[in-house]
Order: sequence, then C-alpha cells, then structure tokens
Amino acid sequence: MSAEPRLFVGMAGGSGACYGRRLVRALVELGWGVDLCISRAAFEVLRHEEGLSLDPASPELERLFGPLPPERVRFYANERIDAPAASGSALRRGAVIVPCSMGTLARISWGFSSCLIERVGDVALKEGCPLVLVPREAPYSALHLENMLRLAHAGAVVLPASPGFYHRPRTIEDLVDHVVGKVLDRLRIEHRLFRRWGGGDPEPAEEAPRG
Ligand SMILES: Cc1cc2nc3c(=O)[nH]c(=O)nc-3n(C[C@H](O)[C@H](O)[C@H](O)COP(=O)(O)O)c2cc1C
Repeated sequence: MSAEPRLFVGMAGGSGACYGRRLVRALVELGWGVDLCISRAAFEVLRHEEGLSLDPASPELERLFGPLPPERVRFYANERIDAPAASGSALRRGAVIVPCSMGTLARISWGFSSCLIERVGDVALKEGCPLVLVPREAPYSALHLENMLRLAHAGAVVLPASPGFYHRPRTIEDLVDHVVGKVLDRLRIEHRLFRRWGGGDPEPAEEAPRG
C-alpha cells in the first residue's frame, strides 16, 4: 500500500492530450500518485496529435509519461466502473478531467455514469470533493455553455484550456504549463510551472535566446 496522496486524472477525447500528459508528470514529480483513465476517443486523439499508438486495455505508461516510480500511476480502463475512484469512500483528494470533451462534459452535467470517467465526475460532485474539468472547444454552443453553467452550479471548476500570455510564454510547453499550473492551483497544490504576476521572479530578458 503506497502512502502518497492520490488524485484521479481522466483523459477524455478533447484536443490537447498534452495537457493530461503534463499534469500526470507534474503530479508524479510533486510526489502524488495518480489513478489514470483514458477514454477510447482520447486514445484516438493521442494517435492523431502525438503519434502515439497505445493498447487501450493496457497502455505503456512510460511512453506517455517517461520513467515512473513503481505503482505511482495506476491505469484503469474506462469500462472499469469497479475502480477505487468510482466509490465515494475512496475518492478523497479529487479528480481532474483533462482534456474534457464536450461529450463527457455533457454527460457528467446530466448525471450520466456510463463509464469510469463519468462515474468519477458524478461521485466527486455528490461527495463535494474537488472536480476540475478542462474543456477544449471553439466556439462554444449554447448547449456547451449551459452544461458548463450547470456543472459550475453543482460545484465543479470549469477551467478551459485557454492559456494566458502575461507570463511571456516562449514555447508550447510554456503555454501547456500555464493551463496545468492553473489546475494545480485549484487543487491547492504548490508548483512552479509558471511565473506569477507580481511574484517577484526575475523578468525574462526580452531577446534572451532559449537554450
Ligand atoms: C483528433 C481529435 C480531436 C478532437 N477534438 C475535440 C475537441 O477539442 N473537443 C471535443 O469536445 N471533442 C473533440 N473530439 C471529438 C471527441 O473525441 C468525440 O466527441 C468523442 O466521442 C468523445 O468521447 P469521450 O467523451 O468518451 O472521450 C476530437 C476527436 C479527435 C479524433
């Protein structure tokens, strides 16, 4: 039995699999354990966006996240509605769905629990534990917005994958880190993924080349 705190991370089939990969890596580096679930559509997105063809029943986690301490990331297929996080007695620290497709967002907002990711969303809301959803779509339809509003009223944090630019990002990784850092902020997990506004960190030199 491991002692580290554990979060549930669900990756649904929205664009931006890089956000989910980065969040899991950051959590592991910060000493957290992760219960991970990836929807069938998210495996497709990983193939299209990142050129990663993985076995949905048993993906090679090191190809997704690099070297990992044993047991730190536990993978559960989306059909595994018997996973620990599917019960309010085990889901204590919270859940993040990143990226969150509009389909998964809609189903959670209407209380569907037809797979593990949706069930965990449902459980987090009923237990009042943190639930952060990172949708990615543009533009939003009225239905998307209504579903997001219903989720916000139910206690979820809807945190769109829309990075800021005030921290002067130079790379795609900087943009991804801004969104992932905001997720960690909502979970009250300390991190240094981006430079805070007025935080006293040194300003990057305007023309400084990036090594
Ligand atoms: C490459 C790719 C990109 C996609 N991007 C998005 C997206 O940004 N937002 C979204 O809601 N759906 C997107 N989709 C469609 C979803 O994957 C699709 O609606 C799927 O049924 C969602 O299933 P899930 O909610 O079980 O993950 C994308 C699909 C593919 C293949």
